[in-house]
Amino acid sequence: MSNTIKGPFIVTGASGQLGSQVIENLLAQGAAPLVAITRTPEKLAALQARGIDVRAGDFNDPATLGAAFAGGGRLLIISTDDLEPGKRLAAHRNAIAAAQEAGVSHIAYTSLTNPDESSPITFAADHRETEALIKQTGIPHTILRNCLYADLLLMSGPQAIGAGALYAAAGEGKAGYVTRADCARAAAAALLTGTGSTVRDITGPAAVGHADIAAILSEVAGKELPYVPITRDALVEAMVKNGLTEFVADVFSSFDVAIAKGYMDVASDDVEALTGQKAQSVRDFLLASKSALTGQA
Ligand SMILES: NC(=O)c1ccc[n+]([C@@H]2O[C@H](COP(=O)([O-])OP(=O)(O)OC[C@H]3O[C@@H](n4cnc5c(N)ncnc54)[C@H](OP(=O)(O)O)[C@@H]3O)[C@@H](O)[C@H]2O)c1
Repeated sequence: MSNTIKGPFIVTGASGQLGSQVIENLLAQGAAPLVAITRTPEKLAALQARGIDVRAGDFNDPATLGAAFAGGGRLLIISTDDLEPGKRLAAHRNAIAAAQEAGVSHIAYTSLTNPDESSPITFAADHRETEALIKQTGIPHTILRNCLYADLLLMSGPQAIGAGALYAAAGEGKAGYVTRADCARAAAAALLTGTGSTVRDITGPAAVGHADIAAILSEVAGKELPYVPITRDALVEAMVKNGLTEFVADVFSSFDVAIAKGYMDVASDDVEALTGQKAQSVRDFLLASKSALTGQA
């Protein structure tokens, strides 16, 4: 850890899957003092017992954020999970305003790969506009453009194994899937060491297509699973049949469209540049997740 960069190191969304891994990374590197912000501090009593300053904070309730960010420091804003366009941006706007008010010295933010105006991803605008708000503050920042989590394949993978084929609307496109664990390592590193203002592409070591994923799943399952490209409408219909709402199916299927159109086809070495360790490949991740994919050890 740098001797010159001082905390406190503040992590929002600290009870989430990413936030909790970021905190563990920071603890492992001896980062102190640490502030964990969450809507549910009662869930983080164990962290408090380990010496972390756990504070309540809800981006949708700006009145909570003054106390949450009091004293300033270096702040990781973990994007919220509101899928309805505009809601996430409004929440992030509150967080950024409160950070500025508190005199935060560096902001790291978990954004999205290629959040351009033309991105098919339904909530890309929320990330694009959050990035713009952060830039407007003039506070040094690290934008972490996280690609799709490889962990998402642990949801579609078992379905594919059960169905005997991988169905997706991703065409021949590729995505730089990255594990949530690598996103957490990169975010911790950005919080500890980021200087100036940079945009990082947080991806796996190579972009992979669905034919590649189907081949890896075949290896894991011990049977041949072809990739069957389908239309977005067919994918939405299947998702709705599986119990998703039309709205959520529309959001999830927009990831496939983004892959098909090349928006997710990014592979960088930014994880290694930030952390000193290469990102895990999709193949290594899926092979290590055999029990989650097949239900067998
Ligand atoms: N790259 C990808 O493929 C991918 C996939 C899924 C999600 N994401 C994004 O990455 C984020 C972290 O992922 P994850 O896997 O950790 O998701 P998760 O386990 O579902 O966590 C959701 C996170 O959102 C925070 N949050 C929700 N509403 C909030 C609010 N009003 N104020 C402050 N924080 C709020 C939660 O914090 P508390 O509950 O502790 O308050 C929690 O950290 C997600 O929220 C989403 O923006 C990316």
